[in-house]
Amino acid sequence: MASAVSFPPANVQMLQGRSCHGHAAFGSCSAVPRTGPRVRSTAVRVSSEQEAAAAVRAPSGRSIEECEADAVAGRFPAPPPLVRPKAPEGTPRIRPLDMEKRPRRNRKSPALRAAFQETTISPANLVLPLFIHEGEEDAPIGAMPGCFRLGWRHGLLDEVYKARDVGVNGFVLFPKIPDALKSQSGDEAYNDNGLVPRTIRLLKDKFPDIVVYTDVALDPYSSDGHDGIVREDGVIMNDETVYQLCKQAVSQARAGADVVSPSDMMDGRVGAIRAALDAEGFHDVSIMSYTAKYASSFYGPFREALDSNPRFGDKKTYQMNPANYREALLETAADEAEGADILLVKPGLPYLDIIRLLRDNSALPIAAYQVSGEYSMIKAAGALKMIDEEKVMMESLMCLRRAGADIILTYFARQAATVLCGMRSK
Ligand code: PBG
Repeated sequence: MASAVSFPPANVQMLQGRSCHGHAAFGSCSAVPRTGPRVRSTAVRVSSEQEAAAAVRAPSGRSIEECEADAVAGRFPAPPPLVRPKAPEGTPRIRPLDMEKRPRRNRKSPALRAAFQETTISPANLVLPLFIHEGEEDAPIGAMPGCFRLGWRHGLLDEVYKARDVGVNGFVLFPKIPDALKSQSGDEAYNDNGLVPRTIRLLKDKFPDIVVYTDVALDPYSSDGHDGIVREDGVIMNDETVYQLCKQAVSQARAGADVVSPSDMMDGRVGAIRAALDAEGFHDVSIMSYTAKYASSFYGPFREALDSNPRFGDKKTYQMNPANYREALLETAADEAEGADILLVKPGLPYLDIIRLLRDNSALPIAAYQVSGEYSMIKAAGALKMIDEEKVMMESLMCLRRAGADIILTYFARQAATVLCGMRSK
């Protein structure tokens, strides 16, 4: 069999016998056709038919040609001798266990393991969160190696271009807002010419086929660093905040956002945002609700990235208690009733039970957010050579899928998609 590998998309490679090895076992890379600029496809012939045949030898040591000649002449191979490979010295000699069921039978070869793999992951399942700022330069984020605050006009476009090249077509934007534009009521959040709406317009103009997700919450715009408006006694005001969030979501929709994603955890915001979008004619803009967002310490590196730590207190009066499970069902019921299109669980890996809970209790698509702290832990342990970064990255993403996530928001999106496409990740 001649194997013509076209490049890109490199996923073709995975259909050509590599599927039993390495990362290709993670499933198919279904890079979506793109409309933007792209590298031209060049077919490379990796091996001729003869070379491939010569390289393969039967267990008897004869070449494929000799085997074929025998078969044509009617000489078929005798059944293989019953070989009993030698066990090491000292192995106890015992009678085999009397067992009907041996689950290991279905794991005995790469082909069988591939055939029975229950979960797959592809770049289409991945959404890449991106940090943006007004600057021209990309600024590295100390606590998140490999992540940058990207300049909205250059670095961002470059990153999106590279991600699309490996099949990632979903992006979520997080802005770093200059202190001078922050206020207690967070009004910059709905400035139609603010950083986020401006960036959405630029992105959709350059890459019309991508999916732009936005974050709906006041924290990047709040001088208090909270997701809502803070009253003088420290209470986060629910309904007044929802009023601001509606204006923010509409402003993002006006700029061309495909999916607005309230991450604030105020009560009633999904229904209010739905009504606000519809009133402005944005019936087709989806809502991805952060349904079960926990008050987690895994967000630390993110808050450093955006300089968005709460000025005082914590977020425990709106984000959920990490000890709670049933409460996620209340949030699920509310978000479904209010018209959410996608339900999100956050963080990811420590909350697999919650992902499964939502998966089993809703027919809506489920998103999982592998948050900054999860990313940084894998990066740090990998850099210290305590774990194999790439393998742990792929396993953690597969586990999120197995738990029931349709899509995964992850800072690893581009790196993982690169691996899925059979290319080197570094
Ligand atoms: C805030 C928001 C946070 C994250 C996404 N949106 C932080 C927070 O709630 O304090 C965290 C993402 C991450 O840690 O990767 N609206």
